[in-house]
Amino acid sequence: MNNIKKNISKYWDYQLDNLLDQELFNQTIKFHQSGVYKRKNCDVFPYSRELLTWLKNNEFSDNIPNHFSSELKLEVKAKKFQNSHRDFLGDPMSKKDFDSIIYNSFGRDFDSGSKRYPSAGALYPIVPLIYILENNAIEGLSNLRGCYVFDTYALSLKKIKEWSTEEFNDFLSVLNTSNKQIYSNFAIGYAIDLKKAIIKYKQRGYRHALIEIGLMAQALREVLVSEKKGLGEFCWSGFDDNALTYLSGLNPRLIPISLIQWFGYKMKGK
Ligand SMILES: Cc1cc2nc3c(=O)[nH]c(=O)nc-3n(C[C@H](O)[C@H](O)[C@H](O)COP(=O)(O)O)c2cc1C
Repeated sequence: MNNIKKNISKYWDYQLDNLLDQELFNQTIKFHQSGVYKRKNCDVFPYSRELLTWLKNNEFSDNIPNHFSSELKLEVKAKKFQNSHRDFLGDPMSKKDFDSIIYNSFGRDFDSGSKRYPSAGALYPIVPLIYILENNAIEGLSNLRGCYVFDTYALSLKKIKEWSTEEFNDFLSVLNTSNKQIYSNFAIGYAIDLKKAIIKYKQRGYRHALIEIGLMAQALREVLVSEKKGLGEFCWSGFDDNALTYLSGLNPRLIPISLIQWFGYKMKGK
């Protein structure tokens, strides 16, 4: 280990509050909150008929300015990429596969301190929350259900939230899985530590945070493919933001969950 600092998460925010621009922090919270979904109060739906027609013509297409002066052809064969997958097996996952997925996607290289995905200023303001939604979801283990954070130095998952039956039902309802209870026993929640995101780069730090979520989600997607175990994932933004963050044991004002990504063994033939 060269320039590795120890895990300072126990007291890292003591100094931060003195350095933070509180006005900017409030603005960032407000801006973030302007995009949240709230139960029974979402101004996106219903989509108009005109919009639905437009969507039909524009999904799976690129926006290409048509004022190009020449064209260079690529000598490649079109291939099938691993795309999103929505049907997962409920069978327990092997501990080896689970550990490998979490470490390879979100872990650190102990020599450099780096992770698989880049982060502006090496601050890593996005906390990947690991949801295990079934007590026996990993072979040989029990009592697993809960929301965990990954300690990349201790190489352990720390459970930050357990649910009573009533709370769990509430949690599922704010995940908004409509007709399904859950898609998989496993999901990641990407939570933005807003203070950490903006302290150095100000407004631009919020942009960096959203970029980092994208990089992390893609890191997980690529890792699942590379494991060659028939694993898949899909991203999900149809949740009730503040309720979900609260029911994950976190403060929605300070560290809002901004994307969910389900993953697991793919159901064959789906
Ligand atoms: C930020 C983000 C949010 C998404 N939210 C949802 C969602 O709420 N529900 C859903 O079914 N799919 C969601 N998706 C998945 C997209 O629908 C999917 O990627 C798209 O249809 C393209 O399909 P493919 O990934 O299989 O190529 C989301 C994807 C991203 C990147």
